[in-house]
Amino acid sequence: MNIVIVGAQWGDEGKGKVIDVLTEDMDILVRYQGGNNAGHTVVVDGREFIFHLIPSGLLHPGKIGLLGNGVVIDPEVLLAEMDRLRARGVIVEEAVKVSDQAHVIFPYHKRLDLAREAFLPGRLGTTGRGIGPCYMDKIARVGIRIADLAHADVLAERIERNLAEKMPLLRAWHDTEPLDRDALLAQYLEYGRRLAPHVVNGVQFLREALGSGKRLLFEGAQGTMLDIDHGTYPYVTSSNATAGGACTGTGVPPTAIDRVLGVVKAYTTRVGEGPLPTEFGPDLMERIRAKGKEFGATTGRPRRCGWFDAIVARHAVWVNGCDAVAVTKLDVLDELDPIRICTGYRAADGRLLEYFPSELKTLHGCEPVYETLPGWKADTGAAERYEDLPQGARAYLRRLEDLIGVPICLVSTGSKREQAFKTEGWARRLTRKNAITA
Ligand code: GDP
Ligand code: IMO
Ligand code: MG
Repeated sequence: MNIVIVGAQWGDEGKGKVIDVLTEDMDILVRYQGGNNAGHTVVVDGREFIFHLIPSGLLHPGKIGLLGNGVVIDPEVLLAEMDRLRARGVIVEEAVKVSDQAHVIFPYHKRLDLAREAFLPGRLGTTGRGIGPCYMDKIARVGIRIADLAHADVLAERIERNLAEKMPLLRAWHDTEPLDRDALLAQYLEYGRRLAPHVVNGVQFLREALGSGKRLLFEGAQGTMLDIDHGTYPYVTSSNATAGGACTGTGVPPTAIDRVLGVVKAYTTRVGEGPLPTEFGPDLMERIRAKGKEFGATTGRPRRCGWFDAIVARHAVWVNGCDAVAVTKLDVLDELDPIRICTGYRAADGRLLEYFPSELKTLHGCEPVYETLPGWKADTGAAERYEDLPQGARAYLRRLEDLIGVPICLVSTGSKREQAFKTEGWARRLTRKNAITA
């Protein structure tokens, strides 16, 4: 069984936690897009780990993690992340593999990212990690890939070409600090030497793994609404975070993927600029942000919070082909009463939209339509089974299932590994083959 785990909102849905819980039954964990704009949190035995590039399942001994060709890699960040994990007793030597076709982030990518945000109008609120500029180079066919770090002549030529293009642009955006070609070359050749033991032909590696019956878990970063094509463009990231990215970002064909699992928070958050139709007013915002510890795992920025948006979740279920969803952070709503769910958008012309508008002009004219459910006002953090949840919490989850149209297969009620349980929906959609067409 090969499964894709994908964020079904604006990122930070708790993918890291869900992946850690599901890794037990998997062999190889594969990141297929994004870079160190991601921050995936896993809490095990009271210890918190935040993964940026390395797949979140690697706290389980014996599992292999691959960074596929669709990922953009800042080698300094990857090496530091491996060092940090090693220092905390996690084995990374044999466990971390890197596709030779993945693109590499250079200092000029980060500086372009920051300078554009600072200098040009229309800030996006990026993470400033150079993600967008690196993907721009990939598409413009001037990118530098992991394989190039092993060839001094190729690397020198590509760095030269990129500096010739980028330095005038940086100067025009008031970033005048020089970048030395030879120093950059020496630094990236050294990164290449250190990464060499981890580098593989990603396509071949996964082909052999599938041939020998290994089970793959594809770890999406970001979320559907941050997808470059299907999100709230231009307030998105620069890659396909949706399930289709798992194929293009790894070379594994669609026919090899058995299941897609979406992850949603029991409410909604986003970090950075861009629309969030169900955004709370200031009082609820502060309350839920504090209770849910809604601060970015990568940049520490406060996350914007809002009610659960069934229009968003339904959009995500469709574009990803989710067989089921996992609901996280139910516990954050424990004290809230009443609780609202957005079930539609009222457009400026009075029409009721039941799908997510494809451009922001229409979206801006929309008002969310809510239905209201009573809160349950009880602690869910110790629930070990669906039946342990208060009646109100079960009613809330059932209503979410109705609205989004697929079963909830996993519920998480706290950040710790043991604070999650599978539901009946697990059997209904995630274990039986071909359930999607049944
Ligand atoms: P990701 O990017 O999707 O992996 O999510 P993040 O790790 O950025 O953000 C999710 C945050 O919520 C992390 O701090 C997790 O430790 C925490 N978390 C995950 N599941 C739960 C849950 O069910 N309840 C609570 N209270 N926190 C959770
Ligand atoms: P995980 O994997 C939440 C957001 C940024 C910004 C936009 C573009 O932890 O869910 P970028 O640096 O990617 O060009 O920024 O995307 N963003 C995320 N928001 N979770 C993430 O990752 C994100 N990665 C990028 O805040 O709004
Ligand atoms: Mg995150």
